[in-house]
Amino acid sequence: MSRGAIAVLSSENLLHNLAQIKAAAPSKPLIAMVKANAFGHGIRSTATRLERHVDNLGVASIEEALALRKIGVKCPITLMEGVFEPDELLIAACQQFHVVFHDTIQLEWLKGLSLPRPLVTWLKVDTGMGRLGFAVGDVPHALRVLKDCPSIKQPIGLMSHMGCADDVNHPLNDIQLHAFAELAKSWEGPKSLANSAAIFAYPQSHYDVIRPGICLYGVSPIKNKNASDFNLKPVMTLQTRLISVRKRPSSSFVGYGGTYQCDEPMNVGVIAIGYGDGYLRSLPPHTPVLVNGKKCHLVGRISMDMAAIDLRSCPDAKVGDPVILWGEGLPIEDIIEGSQIISNELLTSVQSRVTFHWTLS
Ligand SMILES: Cc1ncc(COP(=O)(O)O)c(C=O)c1O
Repeated sequence: MSRGAIAVLSSENLLHNLAQIKAAAPSKPLIAMVKANAFGHGIRSTATRLERHVDNLGVASIEEALALRKIGVKCPITLMEGVFEPDELLIAACQQFHVVFHDTIQLEWLKGLSLPRPLVTWLKVDTGMGRLGFAVGDVPHALRVLKDCPSIKQPIGLMSHMGCADDVNHPLNDIQLHAFAELAKSWEGPKSLANSAAIFAYPQSHYDVIRPGICLYGVSPIKNKNASDFNLKPVMTLQTRLISVRKRPSSSFVGYGGTYQCDEPMNVGVIAIGYGDGYLRSLPPHTPVLVNGKKCHLVGRISMDMAAIDLRSCPDAKVGDPVILWGEGLPIEDIIEGSQIISNELLTSVQSRVTFHWTLS
């Protein structure tokens, strides 16, 4: 019997989610975000499943983009943070990567540059998130530099990112939507503002190109909502199995630190997954799991390779039985409820020692 920690990935659900996104923003070209190992799902395997269905793939670095070219991904790829070194501009031009410019240092790297092919570029503006991007007042100058550079393809795109779109009551949303709309009025090139939350919550943010990330993977993009509210289905189901089932006497301790003490004689199961697999130690006590389809809860601390569960609601459970940590039947939103953890963090934490297995269904 192998260890059993496995991330089952559904191609069908990935394409289903893409269809929901396209329905929410009809006929809008999209950059599918596959950065950070496709939010933990595997950048190569996810990109090859998506590339025929999307216009562009969004990555965080040239290394991620090159990894995709290396396996034969041909569709356009956007470097969402642009280049980190001037030399990367030449690679980007040769590989036809689209490049975001968000800082004056990147503009300086264009001086005197002659590229073999013109670069497709986006100018990123900070409309209020306070992360990357030119201040609104600096946009005319940055645009002029890009326009004057013979190695830059015209027209140039305008991009911004929303910091609070997942919270529809947050006042920053209107501020950002308004600032972007003002710039968009006279902008010649394509415009892009919407991430997952904005795609579903703010149709006025769709403009010319949408940039879905987390919703592609079947996770709710909006706070306090479930994926099913948007008809999204989980792409990843993380599962393992029981490797021990023992009757523990009343008052016995479970796990490191003795943080859980049985209040009656009870069956406690041990599952083959732990923080060394990316099943975070900081998950709340009482995190739900599904044993043979029945909801049980964690007890005690998660250790590196194992975690313990209270099997009182699943009295027939035995060694070898499957246990789902999140995914089909157990929304990831339920796992993080009441904690500081976000779904993206859980998904991107899954380690390579977990077996990744794509299914058609
Ligand atoms: C610039 C940019 N666009 C789009 C996305 C996608 O965001 P989300 O996962 O909220 O859809 C991200 C974040 O991952 C981003 O940084």
